[in-house]
This record gives sequence, C-alpha cells and structure tokens, in this order.
Amino acid sequence: MEPARVLAGVQALPPIRGRPACEPCAVRFQIEDYKVRTTRLHWDDLDIAGFAERPLDPATLRVLGYMHDIEHHTVCYLRDLLVSPAHADPDIMAFLGFWVFEEFWHGEAIGAVLDAHGIESGAPRIAKLRQRLGWRERVRPVVAALGSAVVGARLLAVHMTWGAINEWTTQAGYLRLAQRSGHPVLAELTRRIAKQEGRHIDFYASQAEQRLAGDRAAQRLVRRALRHVWRPVGSGVMPARETRFVIDHLFGGDDGLVIARRIDRRIDALPGLSGLGLIEGATTGRPIESVTGPPALAA
Ligand SMILES: [Fe+2]
Ligand SMILES: [Fe+2]
Repeated sequence: MEPARVLAGVQALPPIRGRPACEPCAVRFQIEDYKVRTTRLHWDDLDIAGFAERPLDPATLRVLGYMHDIEHHTVCYLRDLLVSPAHADPDIMAFLGFWVFEEFWHGEAIGAVLDAHGIESGAPRIAKLRQRLGWRERVRPVVAALGSAVVGARLLAVHMTWGAINEWTTQAGYLRLAQRSGHPVLAELTRRIAKQEGRHIDFYASQAEQRLAGDRAAQRLVRRALRHVWRPVGSGVMPARETRFVIDHLFGGDDGLVIARRIDRRIDALPGLSGLGLIEGATTGRPIESVTGPPALAA
C-alpha cells in the first residue's frame, strides 16, 4: 500500500470494532468462518530493513517492546483458560487454538521491527521475562483452576468480558501507536495486526454479550471483577512503570481520552456493565498495580 494512503488512514483512526448497543444480542462471530479465515500475519513485503534509514523514535520502540512481550505471553493466558470451564465448550476451544497462533505471529512481527533497531526480541527476551515473573507465574494456573472450581461456569462471563476489553484496548493501542509514530511501515504493519484483533474482538464481545444477557448473577460477578481486579493489559506481567508509560503514550492527552471514552462506551453497551469508566480511569492516573490472580488476559 502506498505510504501516504497508509498514514492518511491511520491519522483518521477507524472506529473501534464493536456495535454501540447490544439489544438484541445477536451472535456476530461464526467459528466456522473464523476457521477458514485464520492465518499467520505476513510482513515479508514490508520494508523492515528500511528502519535502518528511517528508525522509529525511542518512545514508539518502548511501547513496541511491551507489545512484543504481551503478544508472546498469550500462550500463558491460554494455559489459564484451559483450566477454566472453557475446556467444555468446543467453539471456545477452537477459537483459542487459532487465537494463540495469531497472537504469536503478532509478537514475531513486532520482533522483526525490534530486531531492525538492534533490540533483543523473540526467544531470549521471552525467556528472561518468564524467569523474572518467578513464583507469580507458577501459581497462576492453580489460582485459575481454584477460581473455576469455586465460581463455576459463570467465570467464563468474566473471562470473555475481560478478553473483549483487552482486545478493544489492544486494537486501539496499535492504531494510536502508528498514528503517533508517523511511520508508514509501522502504520501498515499495525493496520494488519489491528485487523486480526478485530476478529478477536468479535469473538470475545459476542461471547460476553451472550453470557451476560439476562443473567443478573453473571452481570454482578463481572462488574465486581472489573471494578476490583481488572487492570490494563499486561499489568500482571510487565513492570508497573512500563504499563504506565504505555498508557500515557497511547491514551494520554485529549485525543487519547476520546479513544478511552469510546472503549468505555463499548463496555457500557454490554448487558449490566454501564458506568464503570474503566479505561478513562486507567488513563487518568489510577495507580497501575501488578496482579497475580485470575482471570486471564487477552492481547
Ligand atoms: Fe495481538
Ligand atoms: Fe488479539
């Protein structure tokens, strides 16, 4: 794609995927369709070597490092979901298999950009991250399994809503990062990633709608979890200062606030979840704490 067109597209940020209201809560994700559409991300045709001539700025690279680590951590989120009631639902399990595959290639694509700037990526970097997490990472599957045993199938409503919120913020974050960097190659790469994140949004948001609609107990459970446990994507994995930096870079200022409020409106439209103000709260200085417990996060 022509660089000018790419940038023009990025500067006019497209709407975050999702419908403004969920009544009636129609299913808009079809697993049969997703099974034939899923594919690894391709970037061989992009001028990655060109970053040597026109490098990205340090702030963009710092955010990309965060995204690389979180995309590659998706397989650990999958591990936590596998011990939840999700394993009994063949459609969810089919989605998760393809989801983790697509997220892996998002990490690889960002790794190629980091490589081009002489920044470590891939296996050595991921191994260091996992080592750094230590006991917190080891207890997560146990906590996830215990939570599932205690709460039961309604925990899936928490997982699916949490996933939708994180996919909304991730997609918006990629598009905003490209916009702020002003780099045509990054703009095209993140456009491709964001397109796949849109399919993840369709899955999680439609699942969340179905599980929340007409179930007051599920709505109360999800509201409580979001209010007291939810933190921005990556908070349980990355140092708090990095999460703060990423949020400030992507959702700071008046433009960032517009995006944050747009995501909050998506959350408001889910059954029983209006008025939480999660994303705006995260952008306006609420302390970012690390969390060790469930539920799983989605990138
Ligand atoms: Fe991703
Ligand atoms: Fe995703």
